[in-house]
Amino acid sequence: MQSNQLHTLKLNPNEIHLWLAFPDEIQDIALLSAYDKLMSEEERTHQQRFHFAKHQHQYLITRALVRTTLSRYTDVDPSHWQFYKNQYGRPEIHHSDGLPPLRFNLSHTDGLIICGVVLKQDIGVDVEDTERKGAPLEIADRFFSAQEVHDLNQVPDSEKRERFFNYWTLKESYIKARGMGLSLPLEQFTFLMSRTEIQSHQPLRISFAPQLHDDPNQWRFWLLQATQRHQVAISLRRDEGVAYQLSLKKVVPLREEHSFSCSVLHAN
Ligand SMILES: CC(C)(COP(=O)(O)OP(=O)(O)OC[C@H]1O[C@@H](n2cnc3c(N)ncnc32)[C@H](O)[C@@H]1OP(=O)(O)O)[C@@H](O)C(=O)NCCC(=O)NCCS
Repeated sequence: MQSNQLHTLKLNPNEIHLWLAFPDEIQDIALLSAYDKLMSEEERTHQQRFHFAKHQHQYLITRALVRTTLSRYTDVDPSHWQFYKNQYGRPEIHHSDGLPPLRFNLSHTDGLIICGVVLKQDIGVDVEDTERKGAPLEIADRFFSAQEVHDLNQVPDSEKRERFFNYWTLKESYIKARGMGLSLPLEQFTFLMSRTEIQSHQPLRISFAPQLHDDPNQWRFWLLQATQRHQVAISLRRDEGVAYQLSLKKVVPLREEHSFSCSVLHAN
């Protein structure tokens, strides 16, 4: 749908909206200039610090995505949103009277930027480009729990890379939902995705070391194959008894948006 035909969106407490922007497809100079006008001075300065044009472009689209997305839910001009960061760098909305209690989380990688939006709940999103260069499998020992490394080693070689990114995106989305980034010890929580569990289509489960003081029942997870090369994970701290619904939209900020569908690899 074209932007000039849009009405304000309603977000219910059981809904998660995931917005996807494909930066390589957004090259219209007039549009990019309109995005530039949405940024704060601080954001503009930040953007200039990126050495490569590609990263400046990604940063610009990310700011346009988050600002225009939030404005879809309430009557605030995209340029007027104000943000602050928690002590671990997580951006949150500076709430003022009358604003709905929106929460969001962002993630970007080569070719895709995502923004998850909910009411009140803790949400973390992560997108990874599974075709990116490097040999990620070799670093599993450093980032995954002993159980995860063990389970990953049982996976046939042809499926290892994909499973590696399953763990990676899920773990990132969880630490982002907690808002603490890498200060949360990655080996103290485990996504249970053994071959047996995957083959018998068990709902996705997590377990926590006691020191983490967290409860698996409080969390919902989704793992999506957004495009052939992009995996997306979402972690959401749930309210008891609520049946959550996830919906996806592909967007070109200020221009158009369409509903988007992709396969759900795992969820609980
Ligand atoms: C910073 C971190 C929260 C995410 O980093 P990342 O995966 O490189 O980047 P992503 O694109 O997924 O997310 C970046 C966005 O998350 C948000 N963010 C930053 N700090 C955050 C925090 N503490 N909690 C939640 N979200 C945060 C920001 O919006 C940021 O985008 P912006 O700077 O454009 O506003 C942190 O997890 C990190 O440094 N990760 C490095 C990768 C790693 O070693 N992961 C191990 C996985 S097993």
